[in-house]
Amino acid sequence: MVYDRRPDDFKRINTPELAEAFIADQIEEIKKQVGDKKVLLALSGGVDSSVVAALLIKAIGDQLTCVHVNHGLLRKGEPEQVIEVFGKELGANLIYIDATDRFLDKLAGVSDPEKKRMIIGGEFIEVFAEEARKLEGVDFLAQGTIWPDILESEDGIKSHHNAGGLPEDLKFELVEPVKILFKDEVREVGKALGLPDTMVYRQPFPGPGLGVRCLGAITRDRLEAVRESDAILREEFAKDGLDNDVWQFFTVVPDFKSTGIKDGKRTFDWPCVIRAVNTIDAITAEPAELDWDFVQHVTERITHEVPGINRVLWDVTPKPTGTIEWE
Ligand code: XMP
Repeated sequence: MVYDRRPDDFKRINTPELAEAFIADQIEEIKKQVGDKKVLLALSGGVDSSVVAALLIKAIGDQLTCVHVNHGLLRKGEPEQVIEVFGKELGANLIYIDATDRFLDKLAGVSDPEKKRMIIGGEFIEVFAEEARKLEGVDFLAQGTIWPDILESEDGIKSHHNAGGLPEDLKFELVEPVKILFKDEVREVGKALGLPDTMVYRQPFPGPGLGVRCLGAITRDRLEAVRESDAILREEFAKDGLDNDVWQFFTVVPDFKSTGIKDGKRTFDWPCVIRAVNTIDAITAEPAELDWDFVQHVTERITHEVPGINRVLWDVTPKPTGTIEWE
């Protein structure tokens, strides 16, 4: 079946059998839609695009070209991991583009969150368009759009999570095989597709990446503070086995400073906000309850190891009222 919208009576995919049935159905649909044409996939390395990649590889094999764009807003070690897993282990057609300077130059001085999103989304489309023009005969663009993305853009909570507008000269048709699924269903489908657990249970990461966690106008030094604090947080969650229990956790660095003391000297540095939440479908969320020793240890590491940070704040706000991301 081709679905434009999630039918009201669509059965929640929560068993391997339902996932298998969905996969078989979508493989048929993808084959029908694509024929013998070529497809470009925006492979971020997150759950959604990885599942779409696996589905497309199953359906159309090497008609698929995966493009991994490093927009400079990825987490520490992430581009390297995508190259390792997809380029080497899964043997996908993978093009890696380091577009860091291009994105950060365009974002310089832009503080409005939706403008930042639109710039990042638009630039993404441009980069894909350039690849498509080089690649000859690409008619389709695959995307890991999921159902909450569509609902929230319809509700005006935020602009569409992934796609900006396509350039006039390129007429890509979209392939969005998981667009009626909730996140937990995408994971179920990923498991059934045989993707490794490290990929299927990887926490969601927004398309605009660390760009919406480096609040306001992005600067390279503050972006590094986000990346480094995020890496420490992930390391500590993994060490304590918490990364399987907590749905999403990350750091945010706002663009204001406060006074502090480091090595006996007065500092005037940024705070680092930590957000750790549990949810089923990202529509509502609860703050994760964490052990006090753990909270203190993470605070100690981030304030001592991350240049530019002198304070850690823990965000315990549920959604609603706070969205999961800060921007
Ligand atoms: P919010 O902040 O709306 O987040 O409560 C819900 C989930 O969506 C993710 N998110 C995004 N994902 N592009 C994305 O691909 C975005 O612009 C974006 N904004 C939020 C967020 O990380 C959470 O998992």
